[in-house]
Amino acid sequence: MSAAARAVVDTAALRHNLLSVREAAPGSRVMAVIKANAYGHGLVEVARALADADAFAVARLDEAVALRDAGLAHRIVLLEGVLRSEELSRAAALRLEPVIHCPEQVSALEQASLDNPLRAWLKIDTGMHRLGFPPGEAVGVARRLMASGALAKPPVCMTHLACADEPEETVTRSQLAAFAGAVADLPGDRSAANSAAILAYPESHMDWVRPGIMLYGVSPFEGRCGADLGLRPVMSLSSPLIAVKDVPAGGRVGYGGTWTADRATRIGIAAIGYGDGYPRCLGSTDTPVLLGGRKAQLVGRVSMDMIAIDLTDAGDAAVGDEVTLWGADLPVEILASRAGTIGYELLCGVTQRVAVSYV
Ligand SMILES: Cc1ncc(COP(=O)(O)O)c(C=O)c1O
Repeated sequence: MSAAARAVVDTAALRHNLLSVREAAPGSRVMAVIKANAYGHGLVEVARALADADAFAVARLDEAVALRDAGLAHRIVLLEGVLRSEELSRAAALRLEPVIHCPEQVSALEQASLDNPLRAWLKIDTGMHRLGFPPGEAVGVARRLMASGALAKPPVCMTHLACADEPEETVTRSQLAAFAGAVADLPGDRSAANSAAILAYPESHMDWVRPGIMLYGVSPFEGRCGADLGLRPVMSLSSPLIAVKDVPAGGRVGYGGTWTADRATRIGIAAIGYGDGYPRCLGSTDTPVLLGGRKAQLVGRVSMDMIAIDLTDAGDAAVGDEVTLWGADLPVEILASRAGTIGYELLCGVTQRVAVSYV
């Protein structure tokens, strides 16, 4: 075993979670959102594991090119679309489906001379105010797109929900109503639901659902874990102990000596730190790790390459023993809440030096 952090990605859990999406939204097609290196799990490997999805969504052209280079022939949606004419030609040649969300993209399409017409998605801004056209412009933009001759079919209309993960429903209901009004006179498919909406708003499912975080077994809702929703966590992050030492009462551990042993304490040093994506702020809060299935406590600051663990309750832990930072028995949602963030950020933040393996 190499003395370094590693992530294990459970591809059976990915497939289980895809089935959970299909059970929750039986009448919809599934666009698996695998942008940002599949939320840190590995773009191509995750795409292969989720080959049963009806389409993939990525944010950027490069991510889609990597999927095509790896031989994936699925429909691929570019959630941020493209702007320059060479990118449009590339997207058309690779059968990618850009989202059209701003006037500059409409003009670029009108001026493009593409060898192959594109399939495209038209994004309506129903209240998130990030990307998309105001609802009142949807029909006009769709007409312009069809008149451009650059599209193979009418665009699929989509919107994105800002608050579907929150208990308060007013915003989501008003977004769904605005979307229904905007697209009522337009042909073609519709899409609105992210993971939270798939689970909480059946009326949002429409023709295409767009799950991201739930595919990775993580809850989109604060205060709940993936397992509470019937999901299976996909990533497990671990690293071995590289030293075990006895610190006398009064001994201080780590940079700044922020933790002091109140009695003679056995401390384990594990080879993981913020250089691997384990957040430094976890050193200033009550943070659990798992050692041989037992909970132990992180102590002192998180360094770039190491953390310290109080081994008092960890039996006879020894150098080489594996420490789990998050995984099936220690949900990433717990760590995220300790770090004041969301599971998405911890998963995406796992750095390149962490070796990822697939089981
Ligand atoms: C447009 C769009 N749809 C769907 C998703 C998936 O969201 P989630 O991971 O919350 O399911 C995202 C992710 O940010 C997105 O940007």
